[in-house]
Amino acid sequence: MTAFFAALLYLATAVVVGGLAYRTWDYARTPAPLKIPTTPAPVTRGGVALRLLREVALFESLFRSNLWTWAFGWIFHVGLALVLVRHLRYFIEPVWGWVAFLQPFGIYGGFMMAAGLAGLWARRLLVARVRYISTPSDHLMIALLLAVAGTGLAMKYVAHTDIVAVKAFTLGLLYFDWQPLPPDGLVYAHLALVALLMLIFPFSKLLHAPGIFFSPTRNQADDPRERRHLAPWAARLDP
Ligand code: HEM
Repeated sequence: MTAFFAALLYLATAVVVGGLAYRTWDYARTPAPLKIPTTPAPVTRGGVALRLLREVALFESLFRSNLWTWAFGWIFHVGLALVLVRHLRYFIEPVWGWVAFLQPFGIYGGFMMAAGLAGLWARRLLVARVRYISTPSDHLMIALLLAVAGTGLAMKYVAHTDIVAVKAFTLGLLYFDWQPLPPDGLVYAHLALVALLMLIFPFSKLLHAPGIFFSPTRNQADDPRERRHLAPWAARLDP
Protein backbone atom coordinates (compact mmCIF):
# COMPACT_ATOMS: atom_id res chain seq x y z
CA MET A 1 0.00 0.00 0.00
CA THR A 2 2.87 2.41 0.77
CA ALA A 3 4.28 2.00 -2.75
CA PHE A 4 0.81 2.33 -4.30
CA PHE A 5 0.01 5.57 -2.45
CA ALA A 6 3.50 6.98 -3.02
CA ALA A 7 3.17 6.40 -6.79
CA LEU A 8 -0.41 7.73 -6.82
CA LEU A 9 0.54 10.93 -4.97
CA TYR A 10 3.59 11.56 -7.20
CA LEU A 11 1.36 11.13 -10.26
CA ALA A 12 -1.37 13.37 -8.82
CA THR A 13 1.19 16.07 -7.93
CA ALA A 14 2.65 16.01 -11.47
CA VAL A 15 -0.86 16.29 -12.96
CA VAL A 16 -1.96 19.12 -10.67
CA VAL A 17 1.24 21.16 -11.19
CA GLY A 18 1.40 20.59 -14.96
CA GLY A 19 -2.36 21.07 -15.37
CA LEU A 20 -2.38 24.30 -13.36
CA ALA A 21 0.54 25.69 -15.39
CA TYR A 22 -1.18 24.76 -18.67
CA ARG A 23 -4.55 26.22 -17.68
CA THR A 24 -2.96 29.45 -16.42
CA TRP A 25 -1.03 29.81 -19.71
CA ASP A 26 -4.31 29.12 -21.55
CA TYR A 27 -6.05 31.93 -19.64
CA ALA A 28 -3.09 34.24 -20.30
CA ARG A 29 -3.14 33.72 -24.07
CA THR A 30 -6.92 34.15 -24.43
CA PRO A 31 -7.44 37.40 -26.39
CA ALA A 32 -9.05 40.35 -24.58
CA PRO A 33 -9.67 42.63 -27.57
CA LEU A 34 -12.16 44.99 -25.94
CA LYS A 35 -12.20 47.47 -23.10
CA ILE A 36 -14.98 45.98 -20.96
CA PRO A 37 -14.45 46.62 -17.23
CA THR A 38 -17.67 46.15 -15.26
CA THR A 39 -18.48 49.67 -14.07
CA PRO A 40 -18.29 51.38 -11.68
CA ALA A 41 -14.64 50.38 -12.06
CA PRO A 42 -11.38 51.81 -10.71
CA VAL A 43 -9.67 54.38 -12.96
CA THR A 44 -6.07 53.56 -11.94
CA ARG A 45 -3.94 50.38 -11.94
CA GLY A 46 -3.62 50.61 -8.14
CA GLY A 47 -7.39 50.70 -7.92
CA VAL A 48 -7.60 47.60 -10.12
CA ALA A 49 -5.15 45.76 -7.84
CA LEU A 50 -7.34 46.66 -4.86
CA ARG A 51 -10.46 45.51 -6.69
CA LEU A 52 -8.84 42.15 -7.47
CA LEU A 53 -7.71 41.80 -3.86
CA ARG A 54 -11.29 42.41 -2.63
CA GLU A 55 -12.56 39.91 -5.19
CA VAL A 56 -10.08 37.21 -4.08
CA ALA A 57 -10.38 37.80 -0.32
CA LEU A 58 -14.06 38.72 0.00
CA PHE A 59 -15.73 37.48 -3.24
CA GLU A 60 -17.16 40.99 -3.67
CA SER A 61 -19.12 40.50 -6.89
CA LEU A 62 -20.68 37.27 -5.62
CA PHE A 63 -21.72 39.16 -2.48
CA ARG A 64 -23.54 41.67 -4.68
CA SER A 65 -25.26 39.02 -6.77
CA ASN A 66 -26.38 36.35 -4.27
CA LEU A 67 -26.04 36.57 -0.51
CA TRP A 68 -26.67 32.89 0.31
CA THR A 69 -24.28 31.55 -2.32
CA TRP A 70 -21.72 34.10 -1.16
CA ALA A 71 -22.09 33.16 2.52
CA PHE A 72 -21.73 29.38 1.98
CA GLY A 73 -19.06 29.76 -0.69
CA TRP A 74 -16.97 32.12 1.41
CA ILE A 75 -17.26 29.95 4.54
CA PHE A 76 -16.16 26.91 2.52
CA HIS A 77 -13.15 28.66 0.95
CA VAL A 78 -11.91 30.25 4.19
CA GLY A 79 -12.28 26.85 5.90
CA LEU A 80 -10.33 25.21 3.07
CA ALA A 81 -7.53 27.80 3.37
CA LEU A 82 -7.27 27.20 7.14
CA VAL A 83 -7.23 23.42 6.62
CA LEU A 84 -4.48 23.66 3.99
CA VAL A 85 -2.38 25.85 6.30
CA ARG A 86 -2.93 23.33 9.10
CA HIS A 87 -1.77 20.53 6.77
CA LEU A 88 1.56 22.30 6.17
CA ARG A 89 2.77 20.65 9.39
CA TYR A 90 2.89 17.31 7.54
CA PHE A 91 5.32 18.73 4.98
CA ILE A 92 7.78 20.79 7.05
CA GLU A 93 10.14 19.96 9.91
CA PRO A 94 10.59 21.90 12.16
CA VAL A 95 7.07 23.38 11.96
CA TRP A 96 7.11 27.17 11.45
CA GLY A 97 5.78 29.26 14.36
CA TRP A 98 2.80 30.74 12.51
CA VAL A 99 1.74 27.28 11.24
CA ALA A 100 1.84 25.96 14.84
CA PHE A 101 -0.16 29.01 15.99
CA LEU A 102 -2.88 28.42 13.37
CA GLN A 103 -3.37 24.69 14.19
CA PRO A 104 -6.54 25.11 16.34
CA PHE A 105 -8.06 27.43 13.73
CA GLY A 106 -7.45 24.70 11.15
CA ILE A 107 -9.83 22.47 13.09
CA TYR A 108 -12.56 25.12 12.87
CA GLY A 109 -11.62 25.24 9.18
CA GLY A 110 -12.58 21.56 8.76
CA PHE A 111 -16.05 22.27 10.15
CA MET A 112 -16.39 25.47 8.12
CA MET A 113 -15.55 23.49 4.97
CA ALA A 114 -18.20 20.89 5.73
CA ALA A 115 -20.84 23.50 6.68
CA GLY A 116 -20.20 25.59 3.56
CA LEU A 117 -20.35 22.56 1.30
CA ALA A 118 -23.56 21.35 2.94
CA GLY A 119 -25.12 24.78 2.29
CA LEU A 120 -23.95 24.85 -1.33
CA TRP A 121 -25.30 21.34 -1.89
CA ALA A 122 -28.63 22.20 -0.23
CA ARG A 123 -28.90 25.15 -2.64
CA ARG A 124 -28.46 22.83 -5.62
CA LEU A 125 -31.06 20.41 -4.25
CA LEU A 126 -33.66 22.78 -2.83
CA VAL A 127 -33.72 25.87 -5.10
CA ALA A 128 -35.73 24.74 -8.14
CA ARG A 129 -34.04 26.94 -10.76
CA VAL A 130 -30.55 25.97 -9.49
CA ARG A 131 -31.53 22.28 -9.38
CA TYR A 132 -32.66 22.56 -13.01
CA ILE A 133 -29.24 23.72 -14.23
CA SER A 134 -27.18 21.41 -11.94
CA THR A 135 -25.36 18.60 -13.74
CA PRO A 136 -24.23 15.30 -12.16
CA SER A 137 -20.66 16.64 -12.10
CA ASP A 138 -21.78 19.65 -10.01
CA HIS A 139 -23.12 17.24 -7.39
CA LEU A 140 -20.12 14.90 -7.62
CA MET A 141 -17.62 17.75 -7.03
CA ILE A 142 -19.42 18.75 -3.82
CA ALA A 143 -19.67 15.10 -2.76
CA LEU A 144 -15.93 14.58 -3.34
CA LEU A 145 -14.95 17.66 -1.31
CA LEU A 146 -17.34 16.63 1.48
CA ALA A 147 -15.85 13.13 1.49
CA VAL A 148 -12.31 14.58 1.81
CA ALA A 149 -13.43 16.76 4.73
CA GLY A 150 -15.48 13.91 6.27
CA THR A 151 -12.61 11.38 6.24
CA GLY A 152 -10.25 14.09 7.61
CA LEU A 153 -12.58 14.98 10.46
CA ALA A 154 -13.21 11.27 11.15
CA MET A 155 -9.44 10.76 11.67
CA LYS A 156 -9.50 13.53 14.23
CA TYR A 157 -12.76 12.79 16.05
CA VAL A 158 -13.84 9.20 15.38
CA ALA A 159 -10.81 6.93 14.98
CA HIS A 160 -7.45 8.55 15.63
CA THR A 161 -4.76 7.79 13.15
CA ASP A 162 -1.02 7.71 13.78
CA ILE A 163 -0.27 11.24 12.57
CA VAL A 164 3.43 10.91 13.45
CA ALA A 165 3.67 7.99 11.00
CA VAL A 166 1.61 9.93 8.40
CA LYS A 167 4.10 12.79 8.72
CA ALA A 168 7.06 10.42 8.31
CA PHE A 169 5.36 9.13 5.12
CA THR A 170 4.77 12.61 3.62
CA LEU A 171 8.28 13.84 4.50
CA GLY A 172 9.61 10.59 2.99
CA LEU A 173 7.79 11.43 -0.25
CA LEU A 174 9.40 14.89 -0.31
CA TYR A 175 12.93 13.65 0.36
CA PHE A 176 12.68 10.41 -1.69
CA ASP A 177 13.33 8.44 1.50
CA TRP A 178 10.15 6.36 1.57
CA GLN A 179 8.60 5.48 4.93
CA PRO A 180 5.63 3.14 5.57
CA LEU A 181 2.10 4.55 5.50
CA PRO A 182 0.17 3.46 8.63
CA PRO A 183 -2.27 0.65 7.69
CA ASP A 184 -5.50 2.51 8.40
CA GLY A 185 -8.62 2.50 6.24
CA LEU A 186 -9.42 6.16 6.94
CA VAL A 187 -5.91 7.27 5.91
CA TYR A 188 -6.22 5.21 2.72
CA ALA A 189 -9.64 6.72 1.99
CA HIS A 190 -8.51 10.30 2.75
CA LEU A 191 -5.41 10.04 0.56
CA ALA A 192 -7.22 8.28 -2.30
CA LEU A 193 -9.91 10.99 -2.32
CA VAL A 194 -7.26 13.74 -2.15
CA ALA A 195 -5.39 12.13 -5.08
CA LEU A 196 -8.63 11.94 -7.08
CA LEU A 197 -9.30 15.60 -6.32
CA MET A 198 -5.78 16.57 -7.48
CA LEU A 199 -6.13 14.52 -10.67
CA ILE A 200 -9.38 16.14 -11.77
CA PHE A 201 -8.78 19.61 -10.32
CA PRO A 202 -6.98 21.29 -13.27
CA PHE A 203 -9.55 20.05 -15.80
CA SER A 204 -12.71 20.71 -13.81
CA LYS A 205 -14.77 23.74 -12.86
CA LEU A 206 -12.96 23.68 -9.51
CA LEU A 207 -10.13 25.50 -11.26
CA HIS A 208 -11.37 29.07 -11.35
CA ALA A 209 -8.98 30.97 -9.06
CA PRO A 210 -6.43 31.99 -11.75
CA GLY A 211 -9.26 33.06 -14.07
CA ILE A 212 -10.15 36.09 -11.96
CA PHE A 213 -6.75 37.66 -12.67
CA PHE A 214 -7.26 37.34 -16.43
CA SER A 215 -10.90 38.41 -16.50
CA PRO A 216 -11.14 41.68 -18.50
CA THR A 217 -14.29 42.77 -16.68
CA ARG A 218 -12.27 42.74 -13.43
CA ASN A 219 -8.65 43.44 -14.39
CA GLN A 220 -9.13 46.51 -16.59
CA ALA A 221 -9.12 50.15 -15.43
CA ASP A 222 -11.95 52.40 -16.58
CA ASP A 223 -9.66 54.70 -18.64
CA PRO A 224 -10.66 54.29 -22.31
CA ARG A 225 -10.36 58.04 -22.98
CA GLU A 226 -6.96 58.42 -21.30
CA ARG A 227 -5.34 55.31 -22.85
CA ARG A 228 -6.05 53.56 -26.11
CA HIS A 229 -6.78 49.88 -25.49
CA LEU A 230 -4.77 47.85 -27.98
CA ALA A 231 -4.56 44.03 -27.81
CA PRO A 232 -1.10 42.71 -28.84
CA TRP A 233 -2.47 40.98 -31.97
CA ALA A 234 -4.25 44.17 -33.01
CA ALA A 235 -1.07 46.19 -32.41
CA ARG A 236 0.73 44.04 -34.97
CA LEU A 237 -1.87 45.03 -37.59
CA ASP A 238 -1.52 48.71 -36.65
CA PRO A 239 1.12 50.35 -38.88
C1 HEM B 1 -1.21 14.39 0.96
C2 HEM B 1 -2.09 15.23 1.44
C3 HEM B 1 -2.82 15.05 2.76
C4 HEM B 1 -2.50 14.33 3.87
C5 HEM B 1 -1.25 13.50 4.14
C6 HEM B 1 -3.60 14.51 4.83
C7 HEM B 1 -3.64 13.93 6.10
C8 HEM B 1 -4.59 14.24 7.07
C9 HEM B 1 -4.58 13.74 8.42
C10 HEM B 1 -3.54 12.75 8.99
C11 HEM B 1 -5.64 14.29 9.08
C12 HEM B 1 -6.04 14.05 10.56
C13 HEM B 1 -5.56 15.19 11.40
C14 HEM B 1 -5.64 14.93 12.88
O1 HEM B 1 -6.01 13.83 13.30
O2 HEM B 1 -5.30 15.87 13.63
C15 HEM B 1 -6.33 15.14 8.14
C16 HEM B 1 -7.45 15.89 8.43
C17 HEM B 1 -8.16 16.64 7.51
N1 HEM B 1 -7.87 16.76 6.15
FE1 HEM B 1 -6.23 16.02 5.21
N2 HEM B 1 -4.55 15.31 4.27
C18 HEM B 1 -4.12 15.67 3.01
C19 HEM B 1 -4.76 16.52 2.11
C20 HEM B 1 -5.97 17.16 2.35
C21 HEM B 1 -6.62 18.08 1.43
C22 HEM B 1 -6.09 18.49 0.04
C23 HEM B 1 -7.78 18.49 2.05
C24 HEM B 1 -8.86 19.42 1.55
C25 HEM B 1 -9.19 19.61 0.29
C26 HEM B 1 -7.84 17.84 3.35
C27 HEM B 1 -8.86 18.01 4.26
C28 HEM B 1 -8.83 17.60 5.59
C29 HEM B 1 -9.76 18.01 6.61
C30 HEM B 1 -10.97 18.94 6.41
C31 HEM B 1 -9.35 17.42 7.82
C32 HEM B 1 -10.01 17.58 9.21
C33 HEM B 1 -9.56 18.85 9.87
C34 HEM B 1 -8.09 18.87 10.20
O3 HEM B 1 -7.61 17.99 10.95
O4 HEM B 1 -7.40 19.78 9.69
N3 HEM B 1 -6.75 17.04 3.49
N4 HEM B 1 -5.68 15.10 6.93
